[in-house]
Amino acid sequence: MRAAIADHYGAPDVIRIVDLPDPTPRKDEVLVRVSAAAVTSADSRIRAARFPTGFAIFARLMFGMFRPRRTILGGAFSGQVAAAGTSVHTFAPGDDVCGMTGTKLGAHAEYVTVPATKLARKPAAVTHEDAAGLLFGGTTALFFLRDKVSVEPGMSVLVNGASGAIGTNAVQLAAHFGATVTGVTSTSNADLVADLGAARVIDYTQHDLASVTDRFDVVLDTVGNLTIQSGRRLLAPGGKLLLVVAGLADMIRARGNVVTGTAPERVADIEHLLGLVAGGQLTVVLEQVYGLDDITTAHRRVDSGRKVGNIVVHP
Ligand SMILES: NC(=O)c1ccc[n+]([C@@H]2O[C@H](COP(=O)([O-])OP(=O)(O)OC[C@H]3O[C@@H](n4cnc5c(N)ncnc54)[C@H](OP(=O)(O)O)[C@@H]3O)[C@@H](O)[C@H]2O)c1
Repeated sequence: MRAAIADHYGAPDVIRIVDLPDPTPRKDEVLVRVSAAAVTSADSRIRAARFPTGFAIFARLMFGMFRPRRTILGGAFSGQVAAAGTSVHTFAPGDDVCGMTGTKLGAHAEYVTVPATKLARKPAAVTHEDAAGLLFGGTTALFFLRDKVSVEPGMSVLVNGASGAIGTNAVQLAAHFGATVTGVTSTSNADLVADLGAARVIDYTQHDLASVTDRFDVVLDTVGNLTIQSGRRLLAPGGKLLLVVAGLADMIRARGNVVTGTAPERVADIEHLLGLVAGGQLTVVLEQVYGLDDITTAHRRVDSGRKVGNIVVHP
């Protein structure tokens, strides 16, 4: 199979396209022919070994101390079942499926093996590109807004980084839960964020968040430029600060109205999000779909920190 591999940590051009033997599924696994896979901020962090402050040692222990242990990146995919292990009875060749591969990664290739328990059926109404683009940002936004704070009608929610993978989902999900949403983004993405459901958009190139006088029930930071102190200042009484990007020190200090955490990859959440997309209640924002040969360009765009929504490759 063709696969994009990164066998060194570094800039996007460490990635090469190579031919590898097709993987063989274990008895509880499914071999998926990947139709579309997301290139995410996590892929960019792992490729560059650019981990949140204080996490470098833990992350290198997980992903490889001096060079990547998992050379094929890609943690969110959509495709078709090519073969199923002997103990898999829930999926059969030809089924359209999508899912996330956790720290195993491996989706930036023509084939990936995944435990059957980690797969969701892709509804016909959702394209492979949308399914692949949805999962990373969608599961994270859902985890923080629904599970960590339970956003409800009447709440005010500020989403910092409203045009990114997490942000585009967070704006829509918070509005879907009945909240009044304020999105923080740059000038060129202001209309998009308003279209996604933000009642108000703050253009951070014109207005410093530090000068905002409104107070919010929930502040969700996906950028990492709010500190515990500057984020708390934006909270209404009883409000919660959700730090999606937190260094080790903030994670240790987070208590009371400050929440950090790592979003889990749950099939039930993926199915819920797919249902919202199929029903027209959630839109997947795709900036660009690349061929696998252009994956270096895709990584460069993700590295810029300016991608709009999601970037997907066709392996
Ligand atoms: N805790 C968890 O479980 C978890 C899970 C997934 C990801 N993460 C982390 O979450 C972070 C965000 O991930 P992502 O995939 O959503 O990122 P992303 O898609 O790369 O976000 C890019 C967006 O950030 C916006 N942005 C950049 N600077 C900004 C600023 N100063 N103010 C407001 N918006 C700004 C950009 O908008 P403009 O172009 O308009 O500036 C761009 O649209 C990453 O650091 C990732 O590692 C954490």
